[in-house]
Amino acid sequence: MSGVNSELLASVAESATGVESSNLVAAAYLVSAVLFIVGMKRLTKVRTARAGNAYAAVAMFVAIAATLIDIGTVDYSWMIAGVVIGGAIGGIAAVRVPMTKMPEMVAIFNGFGGGSSALVALSVLWSSVIEPGASGSGADILGGAAATTLVLSVMIGALTMTGSVVAYLKLAEVISGNAILLAGRHVLNAVLLLGALGVGGYITVVAGTPMEIQNGVLAVTIASLLLGVFLVIPIGGADMPVVISLLNSYSGVAASATGFVLGNNLLIISGALVGAAGLILTQIMCVAMNRSLANVIFGGFGAEESGGGGGGGEYVNVTSAGAEEAAMMLEDAESVIFVPGYGLAVAQAQHAVRELASVLEGRGATVRYAIHPVAGRMPGHMNVLLAEADVPYEQLIEMDIINPEFKDTDVAIVIGANDVVNPAAEHDKTSPIYGMPILTVHEARMVFVIKRSLGAGFAGIKNELFEANNTNMVFGDAKKVITALTQELKAAD
Ligand code: TAP
Repeated sequence: MSGVNSELLASVAESATGVESSNLVAAAYLVSAVLFIVGMKRLTKVRTARAGNAYAAVAMFVAIAATLIDIGTVDYSWMIAGVVIGGAIGGIAAVRVPMTKMPEMVAIFNGFGGGSSALVALSVLWSSVIEPGASGSGADILGGAAATTLVLSVMIGALTMTGSVVAYLKLAEVISGNAILLAGRHVLNAVLLLGALGVGGYITVVAGTPMEIQNGVLAVTIASLLLGVFLVIPIGGADMPVVISLLNSYSGVAASATGFVLGNNLLIISGALVGAAGLILTQIMCVAMNRSLANVIFGGFGAEESGGGGGGGEYVNVTSAGAEEAAMMLEDAESVIFVPGYGLAVAQAQHAVRELASVLEGRGATVRYAIHPVAGRMPGHMNVLLAEADVPYEQLIEMDIINPEFKDTDVAIVIGANDVVNPAAEHDKTSPIYGMPILTVHEARMVFVIKRSLGAGFAGIKNELFEANNTNMVFGDAKKVITALTQELKAAD
């Protein structure tokens, strides 16, 4: 009797511990989800972004710890090895990858994310369908929802992986960064997509033997891997960052689908957050470049056959000035607007600009910075750079607010920006950037454009601002030119 009682008590205690631990895990997931959301909210402002990152990192730590507790029987040595190797790679990348290479890094991270989702889904399939030798449709074996999301997870994860690798190779200039337009690509993509969906549907609803499911999944995987390549190959030029953001969204959707496969709520939530955030960012970029998403995906921006447009050809009537001359013209300026672009990031001229601003302010000028939403190579690029140099946040003015101010401004100093100040976007219908909102620097009384040459920007087109009567080109590396200007102004004091 007492034996029975103690067995009963032991089983009650065991199940109570199980309930407690699953409650604990659920609570940890909830905390983690909230931290992810608060972290993302904080990432929306430069001032709070660092803290937002820290919140998200803690959330990820809580999520991983809770998952390990949940799984219970795990071989920690593999996990510790993964943490050490992954942490070392991440640490080295964080220190060594310059800000201008961030899009490449994000691209490859998206690829890893998509690839992991696909691999996890495939491993679930293998362990639940193939190994036990079960038979029936995917839905019979796994349940309808799990089988459907499993197929989606493999599809989206696989295409995100190869698409991201192609995006990475383009940005790293291992392959041409231009759009490569293959004949019949739309038909090919449609066949691959519909084929993958059709086979996915078949193995979910109809397939009978494990072999059929196995072959079907293999076909879905291969079709999706190819689809990723063929979807990204025709995209090029200024559309690449948009595509990377879209792939980021896909990697979130793949993770979320994998969350359904595993029955893991936190993966569903965090994947959905990434999916939604990526989509919102994609939309913001499309609006800032005046392009529809369909146009980005099918448009082939920067391709040879697009004709280029944009009033290409040689420059005539360009006026240039040296630093000394430019400093003399700056001496009497009462209002100055700096317009930073990608070249400022390349030259790492943010601290030099901040110093020049202080000298100008010391001479009584008002100084502001005009921020274009797609200046640089990633969203918020200029804000991050200027914040690094302690430029006061209130001096960073967004495009819509600063544009009406240019006509009352003495000097606009364009530093390594090109496409975002090209007036052709406003009136030249043949220009690839036609319709993209620009910073209307040409309305300022005087414009200095600091860059190394008359070379093109990301869009690869001529900039008519360089020929405007009120523009003076100041050729040279942004940091060197700005430092020289500062020295000249100081010498004049
Ligand atoms: P760009 O049009 O790319 O022009 C940058 C200019 O910087 C180049 O013309 C280059 O001219 C100059 N430069 C390079 N290194 C320099 C250095 N060391 N010192 C001085 N100048 C230097 O830059 P932008 O105006 O910032 O426009 C951004 C482009 O990226 C747009 O086409 C935008 O659509 C695209 N884009 C951005 C995003 C995001 S989210 N930011 C997303 C999608 C697309 P030189 O070689 O003559 O020096």
